[in-house]
Amino acid sequence: MNIIVTGAAGFIGSEVALRLLREGHSVTGIDSFTAYYDVKLKEDRVARLVGFPNFRLARSRVEDTATMERVFDRVKPDIILHFAAQAGVRYSLEHPRDYIDANVVGSFNIIDLARRYKARHLVLASTSSAYGANQKFPFEERDSAPYPLTIYAATKLAAELIAHSHAHLYGVPTTVLRFFSVYGPWGRPDMAFYLFTDRIFKGQPIDVFNNGDLLRDFTYIDDLVESIRRLMDVPPQQGSHMIRGDSLSPVAPYRLVNIGNASPVRLMDYIEAIEHAVGRKALKNMLGMQPGDVQQTYADVRLLKALTGYTPHTDYRTGIPIFVDWFRSYYNPA
Ligand SMILES: NC(=O)c1ccc[n+]([C@@H]2O[C@H](COP(=O)([O-])OP(=O)(O)OC[C@H]3O[C@@H](n4cnc5c(N)ncnc54)[C@H](O)[C@@H]3O)[C@@H](O)[C@H]2O)c1
Repeated sequence: MNIIVTGAAGFIGSEVALRLLREGHSVTGIDSFTAYYDVKLKEDRVARLVGFPNFRLARSRVEDTATMERVFDRVKPDIILHFAAQAGVRYSLEHPRDYIDANVVGSFNIIDLARRYKARHLVLASTSSAYGANQKFPFEERDSAPYPLTIYAATKLAAELIAHSHAHLYGVPTTVLRFFSVYGPWGRPDMAFYLFTDRIFKGQPIDVFNNGDLLRDFTYIDDLVESIRRLMDVPPQQGSHMIRGDSLSPVAPYRLVNIGNASPVRLMDYIEAIEHAVGRKALKNMLGMQPGDVQQTYADVRLLKALTGYTPHTDYRTGIPIFVDWFRSYYNPA
């Protein structure tokens, strides 16, 4: 298949692209290598992809309409996986416009080009943050989510809604994936698991928000990639038989699917697993709740299971040591 992967230099996009290249698909990656975090890490991720003859790379912002048109015209993709985004909750408090540009304007470009090139399946990355202030756990795809707490969440919800209206009007099968705190090798340096590991190795204190009273549904990267790979093969069809708990739209070939581990972990237990893998105790700055943060995330993954026969299952006590081993080999910390 001919596949476009946006955000191909990112944590998730690079891992998914690698899987698809190994399967022999033609992959065109799009990424603008933003300076939001270490660009060298992005270059190193992409260096694993460029050795494949079936890989091409376009270095561009997804908001750049003319370049996106050229790339889509050349590739004529069967499937589009849209991972490029300005991510991160805290950064969105200081740089809200970056989120509007990348996540709303950029996502619109990709959604609209999927229509023009009649893609067989458009897959969009969204987030557990979309559930915002919801207090019903676990989060289910059919729960309404009207209370985003950050611009990040609001822009991701906006892209979901734009995709729904386009799926309704033009019929492009669209699956929106809501990811829950993904971690693992080649991960994102702005996320807690990565920051904690780095600071513990350096003997620097870590910031522990809400005095550690947080629950997170941590998803291991290999489980996420497997889930995405399987979901690529089940584009939603309007009017098809609804499975139990289905989020399929009544008026569009459009579906939301959570990808999470369905087992929230206490932050302090997660930190303990990192300490154990690093072999050092963390110095902890106990702090209050971060603005825009939520106390708990917890995915209902019954729909993922019904659609693919698969659910993420890697326990954090297994996944964290694999990440810390990778961190050691990549940075060679003292
Ligand atoms: N990692 C997680 O835990 C998590 C959780 C929920 C949702 N998500 C979503 O999954 C997707 C991938 O996340 P990730 O963790 O791999 O993040 P990432 O930051 O590692 O990857 C995103 C990539 O997109 C690129 N990018 C950013 N803005 C761009 C733009 N305007 N044009 C072109 N490229 C641009 C970046 O350079 C980066 O390489 C994002 O949509 C994110 O919102 C991630």
